[in-house]
Amino acid sequence: MGNGIAHHFTLNGYPVVLHDLSSEVLQQALLTIQSNLDRQLNRGIITEKQKLAAIKHLKTSDNLEDALSSADLVIEAAYESFEAKSAIFKKLNTLAPSTALLTSNTSSISITRLAALTNRPGQVAGLHFMNPVPVMKLVEIIKGYHTLDSTIQYLEDICRQTSKSPVLVNDFPGFVSNRILMPMINEAIYTLYQGVAGVTEIDEIMKLGMAHPMGPLQLADFIGLDVCVSIMNVLKEGLGEQKYSPCPLLIQLVDAGEYGRKSGSGFYRWENGKINGISVKFK
Ligand SMILES: NC(=O)c1ccc[n+]([C@@H]2O[C@H](COP(=O)([O-])OP(=O)(O)OC[C@H]3O[C@@H](n4cnc5c(N)ncnc54)[C@H](O)[C@@H]3O)[C@@H](O)[C@H]2O)c1
Repeated sequence: MGNGIAHHFTLNGYPVVLHDLSSEVLQQALLTIQSNLDRQLNRGIITEKQKLAAIKHLKTSDNLEDALSSADLVIEAAYESFEAKSAIFKKLNTLAPSTALLTSNTSSISITRLAALTNRPGQVAGLHFMNPVPVMKLVEIIKGYHTLDSTIQYLEDICRQTSKSPVLVNDFPGFVSNRILMPMINEAIYTLYQGVAGVTEIDEIMKLGMAHPMGPLQLADFIGLDVCVSIMNVLKEGLGEQKYSPCPLLIQLVDAGEYGRKSGSGFYRWENGKINGISVKFK
């Protein structure tokens, strides 16, 4: 997601500094972004001039302090874990300029809780992009308890200036997108787990019958099965209802290191970002 967000803003003319834990990860990120820009160029979506300008506007740094030195807007997109994000938000609060807005691309974690770790809660909000970022129009903007209207206005403006469609929601577990999407994905996994139908049948029914562009099991692989477990746990803890418990099969896959597309297997086997057969052993 960090790659996609950096790609989006650099292509729209904003100077971007992409930060990650190691220079190797950043090197790989640059290659991914360049190959995604090439794909857009080959499809006639962008010009050679736009591609070169995008590459020029994008810098990387594995040093957080350097990366933040002149930031106006910080978009955190690390692992979907409150522990990881809270450590990051404490550092952002200390290192980012006092005027900078601090946002998270979290799919479900409370913005109000992250904001409370800073001394600028009015300047903290959720900026939830959809995957793949360069393609998907929606940005769910999440207003924490103390988020200022001026912060929301800035974020809505920057979304519109870069041809995204912002939609404002309040800060409750899973916001709107994942409060509705994740229980559907979890139910699809239960349907497989209880032997009602196989992977292909479940995805075909939802694609052909409900006009979804991809089936829920494919979508789970696409999002990342580890991310799906984290979001279900946030819904379960935050809303206090058993119906949000992650399916045992989903938990088992994550325990087995089957994270979906990013690890090469989940419900499907993935090669070069494309499906190449069914992977899950439970049929
Ligand atoms: N995957 C999706 O479809 C999707 C969609 C919308 C939102 N999100 C959200 O975006 C965030 C990232 O998800 P992802 O799927 O890209 O995860 P990912 O695991 O693919 O990538 C996370 C990246 O964060 C880096 N990282 C971890 N700790 C860090 C730290 N302390 N400092 C700097 N970098 C650090 C990791 O090295 C890794 O490159 C999560 O909050 C997730 O919920 C994901």
